[in-house]
Amino acid sequence: MSPNTPLRAVIDLDVLGPVISRHIYGHFAEHLGRCIYGGFWVGEDSSIPNEGGIRRDVVEALRKLQIPNLRWPGGCFADEYHWRDGIGPREQRPRMVNSHWGDIVEDNSFGTHEFMALCELLGADPYVSGNVGSGTVREMSEWVEYLTRAGDSPMASLRRQNGRDEPWKVPFWGIGNEAWGCGGNMRAEAYADLARQYSTYVRDHGENKVYRIAAGASDTDYAWTEALMKALCIGCGPFPQNIYQAISVHHYTVTGPWEDKGDAVKFDNDQYYSTMLKAQEIDQILQGHSNVMDVYDPHKKVGLVLDEWGTWWNAEPGTNPGFLYQQNTLRDALVASVHFDAFHRHAERLVMTNIAQTVNVLQAMILTDEESGALVLTPTYHVYAMNTGHHDARALDVDFVGALPERDVDGTSIPLLSASASAKDDTALVSLSNLDAEQPATLLLDLRGRAVAGWTAQLLSAPSLNTHNTAGDPVAVQPVDFTAVKDHPSGLELELPPHSYVTVSLNLEV
Ligand code: AHR
Repeated sequence: MSPNTPLRAVIDLDVLGPVISRHIYGHFAEHLGRCIYGGFWVGEDSSIPNEGGIRRDVVEALRKLQIPNLRWPGGCFADEYHWRDGIGPREQRPRMVNSHWGDIVEDNSFGTHEFMALCELLGADPYVSGNVGSGTVREMSEWVEYLTRAGDSPMASLRRQNGRDEPWKVPFWGIGNEAWGCGGNMRAEAYADLARQYSTYVRDHGENKVYRIAAGASDTDYAWTEALMKALCIGCGPFPQNIYQAISVHHYTVTGPWEDKGDAVKFDNDQYYSTMLKAQEIDQILQGHSNVMDVYDPHKKVGLVLDEWGTWWNAEPGTNPGFLYQQNTLRDALVASVHFDAFHRHAERLVMTNIAQTVNVLQAMILTDEESGALVLTPTYHVYAMNTGHHDARALDVDFVGALPERDVDGTSIPLLSASASAKDDTALVSLSNLDAEQPATLLLDLRGRAVAGWTAQLLSAPSLNTHNTAGDPVAVQPVDFTAVKDHPSGLELELPPHSYVTVSLNLEV
């Protein structure tokens, strides 16, 4: 290869890999800070336009992302939430202390009916996290019955008394959360037994088939995953459909010690590259859990669900530290794009992910101004928007030929280009991240196997990595048409700007 030959990314457009489930683009909303209250929910009497108390602008923005599912009510909150406190007339609902998040009083005005109404408005599948840590098997079992049972039953009647005749569909159910920590400080084997027990009573009522997700490991705790896989006892008899069908894992991008995770907006290039090193670790973590699962389940019947991920910075100065409100810059967008590339590569085992969290908490899609109520879309939102073409598409391998630009970060060499691709019907979508803070990257997309009839491309970048959107400047970071693309005999040649995210949508000839 001549020294002038640009780096090539070879994509065989006709070699289709596993389906990238749209649920990989899932979301998470906890009773935490201003995610539910002030984020999704403003109440019916608010001057902010709302649909039965739910902010209309938030719903409209999320519908554009085609959000496939929404996890609720936690997180750590799930294991102290008692669902019966959140039904019936709002003024009569008992109050509780949200001890994990700000130690504030929760009035339960947003409960089961409000959540299900939100999912209906969003067109998203509900993913309900049940309470194992401080709840009971009966409580969880009755919640499923309340939500999903038609006809005559005690819980179906109670639901009807509260104004809802038809049962809802609830396809996803979490058996607790972080059982090794805030969800009960359990040991893996003890929790695995509880997960079997609770799952048994999460019944399929009528047509509603529940996909039960056992609370999984933190980061690289592969022993936790192994304990849950052993407890499934695949091969001991018929595949245990009445126990759990998937295992979760949580991994946050945290740069620095827990006590000082760094500022969301003020960071230098070294801190930026350390963040990219951390973000890229997700690939190895997913591989590690998949490897363990493969030993017990080589046919990949059990799903892996990353139901919490994202950046976690110090809370914005002047805000309640227990509310986990943080700004979101172009750096966060690149953390997201690197994660999505890894998710696509692991699509065979990884069936769902949920970013933490959708509004006003951690790596949010949407920030709402506390005073004015103004809504701001974050750079991370735009990566989700640019990637909707990957939903339910078939993964395509991207093979780099040539020397990938790299950088030594804290003794580890990290690639400064990240890519993934997928195809659906007669289109293919290629995602490209140039992680170099300062240098552009020239890349040849070497497209094989199918003829390309046309293309469009979008660019997400900004003058600096810490550029972010605010109520005063809501479009400082937003996608624009990308034109630095030239036709080439082998495909397309692109000049990716420094710190940029680019998607190329290809129309394939039939
Ligand atoms: O997303 C914030 C918290 O992080 C969740 O409540 C918990 O599950 C995790 O530790």
